[in-house]
Amino acid sequence: MFSVPIETTATVVAEVPDDPDLLAVPYSADLRTAHPVELHLPVPDLLAHYEAKGEAGEIVEVPVARGGGATPRVGRVLLYGVGDGSPRALRKAGAALSRRVKGRDRLTVVTPEGDVAAFAEAALLAAYTFKIGESGKKAVRTLAFAGADEEAVRRAQTVAQAVALARDLANTPSSVKNPAWLAERAAESGVPVRVWDEEQLQADGFGGILAVGRGSASPPRLIQLSYTPAEPTDRHIVLVGKGITFDSGGLSLKPTENMKTQKTDMAGGAVVIAVLGALARLGARVKVTGLVAAAENMPSGTAQRPSDVITHYGGRTVEVLNTDAEGRLVMADALAYADAVLDPDAVVDIATLTGAISVALGRNVGAVYASDDVLAKQLLEAGEVTDDRLWRMPLIDDYTPALESSIADLSNVEAGSRFGAGSITAALFLREFTGGRPWAHLDIAGVGRSTVDEGTLSKGATGFGVRVLLDWLTRA
Ligand code: BES
Ligand code: MN
Ligand code: ZN
Repeated sequence: MFSVPIETTATVVAEVPDDPDLLAVPYSADLRTAHPVELHLPVPDLLAHYEAKGEAGEIVEVPVARGGGATPRVGRVLLYGVGDGSPRALRKAGAALSRRVKGRDRLTVVTPEGDVAAFAEAALLAAYTFKIGESGKKAVRTLAFAGADEEAVRRAQTVAQAVALARDLANTPSSVKNPAWLAERAAESGVPVRVWDEEQLQADGFGGILAVGRGSASPPRLIQLSYTPAEPTDRHIVLVGKGITFDSGGLSLKPTENMKTQKTDMAGGAVVIAVLGALARLGARVKVTGLVAAAENMPSGTAQRPSDVITHYGGRTVEVLNTDAEGRLVMADALAYADAVLDPDAVVDIATLTGAISVALGRNVGAVYASDDVLAKQLLEAGEVTDDRLWRMPLIDDYTPALESSIADLSNVEAGSRFGAGSITAALFLREFTGGRPWAHLDIAGVGRSTVDEGTLSKGATGFGVRVLLDWLTRA
């Protein structure tokens, strides 16, 4: 269905070629261009004429005669604003440029001062498209960055490809992807993979993953991916991703409007697969294990019922009062397994866990909960740097009684409505299975998909989490 994650290639050229068809040249907020080529254009006059303000994302397009002689051809110069030159401004500029040249063969870019990796990464992400069947307007084929630092552009390309892979996996319809399919994609990531099928899940006691998967004709899987660096530090990080390949709600069925977006309910798992696949190319020195808890949540005669009691990995029992709160059930198994078997120094999970978090933080900022202040700070910083923006949410201990059950160790949702706080109580539920280890939880239900095709985002899956986690793991 898709061959390569991003069709656009980023290359570096030593200098601007003599007579490029399409050339982009930056100008700053004071409307100056600092460019290594003679443009033969009255740039200040042109910018004044088009009332340019120098803002990031602004583009002034000028036709130019190329080739000289009696029958010159027409080329174009794109003067692009870079605002204050900050990474955020450069991302906006890069994305705008890439969008402007959709369908073209090659754009030569005179790179701006500042964070070239952020600029190139945004340009590549803005070129992302996902289309089944006759393809729409193709992205620009090559972005040639003149005089740029090769390492920065290579890194941008690796990160953008990882984001694109996460988007591809989440955008794939659930008629194609099921837990076994997701395990196959994980096996293509380039790191060793271990997969538990239904029988093995049963044998090892993964009662949460099995319970959620019971209603589906496609059986569940637990997927483990292992990255071991050549020269590892002594730290071991575990990433856990929610891999619900479709969330109908189960017998606690969702209404159509809420259900139609739920093919992306494995976005967290997709991020884990994409991150594990990119670590080697980015030279990460920390050992990382990824876990994807994959199941399809469907209603049927074999589905789990509201009021069932299940036994999680490690023996904890949970009364399932709402089968639509399934993410925490599969995540609990994986978290308990990580604690009992993998001996991690820190665990970070990522999940499209609650609709409530998009009420709290909207569609542009993801939630981070953490049992550890240092871990929280590192993730918040990585979020600022990468533009996968995060806001820390509180684990309010006073709300833990919300999850008490009279017949089991815990219930998966609050029975009444005394506490509310849907995203917080979900996080508190997960914390129960972390064994007190340093742990952070990213609730990406609000940011996991986009309703707009704008900037670095395309409609549908966003790949949110890939950039922040890769940045954090390559610093660790
Ligand atoms: N997958 C959903 C959360 C979700 C909602 C993701 C909207 C993306 C967009 C999750 O499994 C769910 O159904 N959560 C319930 C929990 C409730 C039953 C306590 C919710 O948020 O309504
Ligand atoms: Mn659900
Ligand atoms: Zn879900």
